[in-house]
Amino acid sequence: MCFIISGALVVIWHFASKNPAFNTLRLAEFFKFNYECTTTTVLKSSTTSAKVTTTKIIGTIAPPAPVPVPIPQPLQPIAGNLKLITTNTDPQYKMFVLNQNSELLSGIYLRQGSFEGSLQRILRKSLEKTKNGEVTFFDIGANLGIHALYMAALNYSVVAVEADMETFSIFSQSVIVNRFYNKVQAINAAISSSRGNIPMLRNANNIGNNRIVSKAEAAAQPGLQHTVRGIKLNDLVPFLPHDDIVLKIDIEGHECHVMNAEEAQLLFSSKNITCVAMEFTPKNMNANEACVANMVAFFAQNNYVPYYSSGGELGRKITSTNMYHEINHDVLWLPSSANAADYF
Ligand SMILES: *[C@@H]1O[C@H](CO)[C@@H](O)[C@H](O)[C@H]1NC(C)=O
Ligand SMILES: *[C@@H]1O[C@H](CO)[C@@H](O)[C@H](O)[C@H]1NC(C)=O
Repeated sequence: MCFIISGALVVIWHFASKNPAFNTLRLAEFFKFNYECTTTTVLKSSTTSAKVTTTKIIGTIAPPAPVPVPIPQPLQPIAGNLKLITTNTDPQYKMFVLNQNSELLSGIYLRQGSFEGSLQRILRKSLEKTKNGEVTFFDIGANLGIHALYMAALNYSVVAVEADMETFSIFSQSVIVNRFYNKVQAINAAISSSRGNIPMLRNANNIGNNRIVSKAEAAAQPGLQHTVRGIKLNDLVPFLPHDDIVLKIDIEGHECHVMNAEEAQLLFSSKNITCVAMEFTPKNMNANEACVANMVAFFAQNNYVPYYSSGGELGRKITSTNMYHEINHDVLWLPSSANAADYF
């Protein structure tokens, strides 16, 4: 037996038991994969040339190693009641936010009914490029479901990962109220470079800034720290239903721990990652410079090129040779073979 993301499953099963339609089959697979740890998943890549399809095995995911049973810690609930809003996006959908203007994200939704519209347009275009809608929107750092719910409203398949249990439970309730059960696989875990317990710090005024920190940093702010379940990116590869993936990752400076050769090569080799949308502000986030350099090198090795994906420089290729020091921006990584004009 392995004991991974047990907290996540408690929350997911809570909703699943109230709403039997909530994607129980896939959750059952997820449960098996993580708890029984008996499966070795074989990844295959298919190439079709003329009439012949060749499938080659390009790697395997070993069952995760057992980790100690996490000691449950009392969670400090985010203060405030929830409010169900209707977005002013096209299409519209419903979304739970905190009924609290002082919290940045909820405040924006309470006032405007939408957030990061320009990123949503880019992600939507990227999804529309893929034939027959056979593409998965993979959202790492889903938060309240800002982008995941929109893509589900557009009828795309979504795999959305959110580490913070309170934020995740709000997001789950939005999945339920919209009846997106069969579109969204919601997973409460922190994707990181290790499995097991991971310290996280809350920002009471901006739930979008809840982030993974070092143990020392977490210990310094006992009222805001809590423990989340760490999983590895590879653990989720078998749960991505399509080969084509539009990836969004926004995990507050922790990106380089996940987007590197060791953690992400299997995903990039086994799936068609058509683009990666990322908030690239590593210096602001105090990310480690060498770690960020590894991430940038990883993208280059896989032939991805960065573009500015918001503001006045939207769609311009980033030519910086020192991104850590020079770039503080939303970035879209595209395969060098892609026509960038199609995405902006
Ligand atoms: C990957 O996805 C892009 C965008 O949809 C598509 O143009 C390309 O043909 C795909 N590549 C493969 C190998 O399927
Ligand atoms: C939504 O997507 C599913 C496949 O995931 C498809 O069967 C269905 O027809 C789509 N619905 C609409 C309204 O496009």
